[in-house]
Amino acid sequence: MNQTKKTTRRGFLDWLIAAFSAVAGLAMTIPGLMYLWPAAKGGAAEAVEISGAGQMKPGQSVTLQVGGKPVIVVRGRTGFLAFSASCTHLGCLVTWETQKKHFACPCHAAVFDANGGVVSGPPPAPLPPYVIKEIGEKVYVSAPA
Ligand code: FES
Repeated sequence: MNQTKKTTRRGFLDWLIAAFSAVAGLAMTIPGLMYLWPAAKGGAAEAVEISGAGQMKPGQSVTLQVGGKPVIVVRGRTGFLAFSASCTHLGCLVTWETQKKHFACPCHAAVFDANGGVVSGPPPAPLPPYVIKEIGEKVYVSAPA
């Protein structure tokens, strides 16, 4: 009895379709996972140095990215404060208004106080604080643990 298995044209086409389907599935899945993976890691451990922090005068601010998210850092009289720069209403970027000593959201005229608390407008929550660490002359900001 001859047990050799012949590859038929139909069998080969079935295998080819399965292989292309697997490649197409991976091609669609991998970019999606790569997009989600950094967000899942959260970047909580990432500490970003505030360049030029030593030259900032009280009342000045800078916006930078920490873990892929916008963070606004303000130099106060006694040190630095950092908050998420994403408005808690719909996510617009807030700015620091030095003269008024508050954060303002341009989208729906929200105002947050210097500690990130909601003063007026539709935001449902204060600006989430970030962590500041001063090591020697350098100042770092990171997400809370
Ligand atoms: S997004 Fe900031 S107040 Fe609406």
